[in-house]
Amino acid sequence: MIQPMARIASYFSDHEWPDERRRLALMEQRYDPGTIRRLEAIGVTHGWSCLEVGAGGGSIARWLAQRVGQTGRVVATDLDTRFFEDAVAANVEVWRHDIAADPLPSEHFDLVHVRWVLDLLPDRERVIEKLIFALKSGGWLLDEEPDIFPTASGVWRAYRTLVEALATVTHSAGLDSEWARTLPAVLTAAGLVDVEADTEVDLFRGGSVMAESRTLSFEQLRAPALESGVISEAEFDRGLACLTDPDAWLMDFATVAAWGRKP
Ligand SMILES: C[S@@+](CC[C@H](N)C(=O)[O-])C[C@H]1O[C@@H](n2cnc3c(N)ncnc32)[C@H](O)[C@@H]1O
Repeated sequence: MIQPMARIASYFSDHEWPDERRRLALMEQRYDPGTIRRLEAIGVTHGWSCLEVGAGGGSIARWLAQRVGQTGRVVATDLDTRFFEDAVAANVEVWRHDIAADPLPSEHFDLVHVRWVLDLLPDRERVIEKLIFALKSGGWLLDEEPDIFPTASGVWRAYRTLVEALATVTHSAGLDSEWARTLPAVLTAAGLVDVEADTEVDLFRGGSVMAESRTLSFEQLRAPALESGVISEAEFDRGLACLTDPDAWLMDFATVAAWGRKP
């Protein structure tokens, strides 16, 4: 039996989970350089007003706060703000906020940034419309989301079996690991202009930082995956063992990034 969506999604937002802070720190270590490169290319600068949605560990909110300076503002939101609320600068407002349900001010921000959040939510396109509603004319939306497409090319079969089983569980529960590839079209259809996109793909080794990050994410899904019956415990453990095997080279999810400007 597949688990209800709310339960699966909550696995990736559960800040009570003992390894969640570590998992978020590993994400920041891997993805911050690409995010910062894109934010610099967009031209984030002094005086901008920025919204960081689902801020997680808060590293990008802190980077934005420095970048926009004392004349700028950053609003950093999350369902659970515990990992960044004490470590932000004076020009940062922390909001406990559900991006799917809670309102945003209209025409307020020069930049909205989201990373690895919308894939967790149903009705992503409606959330994108809300984010655009919150942008000033001329403001930028940057969204970076995971997509499963590279993993099908991985040569380590046990790892592929695990990743594909987890995708089946999460997909049946409302998450979509094939949505990110549509992001440029979604942003264009939502009315943004000057839309650009790029993709990062990792081929990583068992025992690496990325392998630890994936281990923590997959362990969060162990219970619903086994309960769903799409994978046996032995298969789950064989897939997980690849992540500590230094001879294994594993094809990761892609991060698809797309950004565009409100006319
Ligand atoms: C995979 S983590 C990514 C964290 C951060 N954006 C990063 O890339 O380092 C997903 C984050 O989104 C938050 N989140 C999930 N659903 C949310 C919602 N409906 N509104 C706001 N934040 C949400 C979670 O609490 C978690 O901190």
